[in-house]
Amino acid sequence: MKKVGVLISGRGSNLGALIAAQADSSYKIVLVISNIADAGGLAVAAEAGIATKVISHKDKSREEFDADLDAALRAAKTDIVCLAGFMRILSDRFARAWEGKLVNIHPSLLPAYKGIKVHERVIEAGEVTSGASVHFVVPELDAGPVIAQAKVPVHPSDTPEMLATRVLEVEHKLYPQALRLLAADKVRLEKGLAVFA
Ligand code: GRF
Repeated sequence: MKKVGVLISGRGSNLGALIAAQADSSYKIVLVISNIADAGGLAVAAEAGIATKVISHKDKSREEFDADLDAALRAAKTDIVCLAGFMRILSDRFARAWEGKLVNIHPSLLPAYKGIKVHERVIEAGEVTSGASVHFVVPELDAGPVIAQAKVPVHPSDTPEMLATRVLEVEHKLYPQALRLLAADKVRLEKGLAVFA
């Protein structure tokens, strides 16, 4: 059984999906860390009886913040760390320390539309398809190898909010699937590539 730590900054709907899927999976979420004290996801974790911790990024350097995260994750003996709506950029040092064990979900078909304001940019560009990606985290933002993707249509009448809702629905299936693969050692990061067993 792999111990998982989840880092959040917000409402935690992906966290909820990971929690819901863990009963019949080879992973167990042992710690949820938020950098925001009133993040909705903290209540989601607490309701499921999962330990929570708030580690603020304020009044400290990026390196100090990441060292605090690292210490909390190591104290909880996590094998895998999932970013789920975690809105801080992690230092190269942190990304390297957790290489192959650190994954993120991003609401686009990576490598397209890295970064923020994804849905606005997808609509603006007139795309007919978008989606979500779960990927290994490497030092460069949203650039790590993809573990799993799911597509959704983009409709001409879509607002960013409508598209976000459609993408989020597939995120909730995709993230547990990808985490199951990683927890079962069916995918690993090797020489910068996702290698499937
Ligand atoms: C999701 O759209 C995820 O792809 C992005 O941030 C959002 C988090 O939503 N990284 P939630 O907090 O899991 O509801």
